[in-house]
Amino acid sequence: MAKAIINGNRSKGIINPNIYGHFSEHLGRCIYNGVYVGESSDIPNVNGMRIDVVEALRQMAIPLLRWPGGCFADTYHWRDGIGPQESRKKIVNTNWGGVTEDNSFGTHEFLELCRQLGCEPYISGNVGSGTVQEFSDWVEYCNMGGQSPMAEERRKNGQDAPWNVKYWGIGNEAWGCGGSMRPEFYADLCRQYATYMRNYDNEHKIYKIASGANVDDYNWTKVVMEQAGHSVDAVSLHYYTRPRTEEWSNKGPATGFPREEYYSTLRNTLFMEELVENHSRIIRQYQGSRQVGLCVDEWGTWFDVEPGTNPGFLYQQNTMRDALVAAINLNIFNEHCDTVVMANIAQMVNVLQAVILTEGPKMLLTPTYHVFEMYKGHQGAKQLESYVETSLIGDKENTVPNLHISASESAEGVLVTVANLDDKNSAVLDCTLSGLGQASRAEGRVLTGGCGAFNDFGSEEIVKPAPLPAEMTEDGFKASLPACSVAAFLVK
Ligand code: AHR
Repeated sequence: MAKAIINGNRSKGIINPNIYGHFSEHLGRCIYNGVYVGESSDIPNVNGMRIDVVEALRQMAIPLLRWPGGCFADTYHWRDGIGPQESRKKIVNTNWGGVTEDNSFGTHEFLELCRQLGCEPYISGNVGSGTVQEFSDWVEYCNMGGQSPMAEERRKNGQDAPWNVKYWGIGNEAWGCGGSMRPEFYADLCRQYATYMRNYDNEHKIYKIASGANVDDYNWTKVVMEQAGHSVDAVSLHYYTRPRTEEWSNKGPATGFPREEYYSTLRNTLFMEELVENHSRIIRQYQGSRQVGLCVDEWGTWFDVEPGTNPGFLYQQNTMRDALVAAINLNIFNEHCDTVVMANIAQMVNVLQAVILTEGPKMLLTPTYHVFEMYKGHQGAKQLESYVETSLIGDKENTVPNLHISASESAEGVLVTVANLDDKNSAVLDCTLSGLGQASRAEGRVLTGGCGAFNDFGSEEIVKPAPLPAEMTEDGFKASLPACSVAAFLVK
C-alpha cells in the first residue's frame, strides 16, 4: 500500500496552460502530410488543414503551438512563405533530409492552423542566419493594426486584422544549429533583437523568449540572464530523453526495447527535475525586478528512427514507455509551475514523441496523446502540494521510484495524476486529501497495456484510457494502479 497526501493548504500557484504546449517544425512529415495537406487534397481538410488531426488536437485541449523550428527556424526567411503559394520560393531543408521545401505552409497558414486549433501561436524567429530588420518586420507584419508597410503587405495577402502574436522566440539553440554561438555573443544579439521587437498594441504586449541552454549547460543560462535577462520575459531549455546516451547514432529502438532501456529511459527522464530546479535557481538569481520564466520549449523521447524510414525525418513509434515519460515530465512541470511557464513536447505529429501519427489518410492517437488528454484538467488549475510514498525499483544501475504524482484544484474538483513506473507490479494507492473538504466520489481513468504496448495502423486502439474504479475512504480514496500505467482521478 502506498500512502499519498494531497495538501489543499499549500500551492506553488497556477499551472500555466502553456505547460501543455506543443512544437511543430518543418521536419519530415510533421507539417506536410501530418497537419497540412493543401486545399486540393483528397484528405478531408479545411483550408488545407487535416480535419481529423485538428479535431483530435482540440479534444486534447492544445493550448499553444511553437513553429517553424527547431533548427529549421534559423534557416527560415518568413517572406519565402507569404503571397500566392504557386510563386513562393522553393528551398532546400538543409537540416532535415535535404528535401525540397515549397513554402506552401507559411505565416498565414500557421496562424490559420492556430485559429482552427483555438491555441496560442509561438513563433521562433531567425537569429542564426537572418537579420534584425527581417525579424522586426515579421513582428510588424503579424501585429501592426494601423497603417505601415508591413500591415499593408499583410492586407494585400488577404489578412486585414493583425493576429497579435504574443510569444516570440529569439532564435533556437543558438549554441548549436542556431549559429554555434558563445553565450556572450548570443546575449548581445538577443538584446539587439529584443530592442526591435516592438509592441504595436498596448493590450497585446509581446512575450520574448531567449534561446536557452542545452541540457545542463548552466553557464549558458547564467551568461544570458546576466547580460540579457532584463530584455526578455523567459529563457528556454531543451532536454530530450534517450535510453542510451553515449552516441546520438545509437539511441535505442522505440519499440521492442530491452527491460534495461525501459528503466534507463525513465531514470533519464527524471533528470528533468534537477535541470528545471538548477536553471530556475540561476534565473531567479539574475532576474532583478523583472520576473523571468523558464520555457522548456523542446522535450520528449528521442529514439532511433523506425527501420526503413528517412533518418532525417525522425519518425518513431510511441509506446506505454513514452506515456510514462510524458506523465513524469508533466508532473514535474506542474510541480514547478512557479517558474516553468511553458513547455513544448517535440513534436506534435509524426516526429519524435508525437501525440499523433498519420499514414496517408489514416491517423492514430499515441499513448502520449492519451496522457495529455487525461492531464488536460491541470491546465490553468491551482497546483497542490502532493506527496507519495515510493520504493526504489529498476534494472541494474537504472533505479527509479515506483510512483510519480502531481495534483491540482479547479472548479471541476481535485485532479490527481499518478504514474506507476513498475513494469511488473501493481500498486495500491491510498490517497488522503487534506484541507479540501469531504470528497464524495473519485472518477478514475487509467492508461496501461504493458510497457511495450503501442497503437499501430490496423490496431489503433491497443492503448487507450479505461475507467479505473476508486473506493472512497474516510479522508480520500483508494485504487489499484496496474503495472506500467498512468492514472488520473478527478475527485469531487
Ligand atoms: O526537435 C528536433 C530538433 O531538436 C530541433 O530542430 C532542434 O531544436 C533540436 O536539436
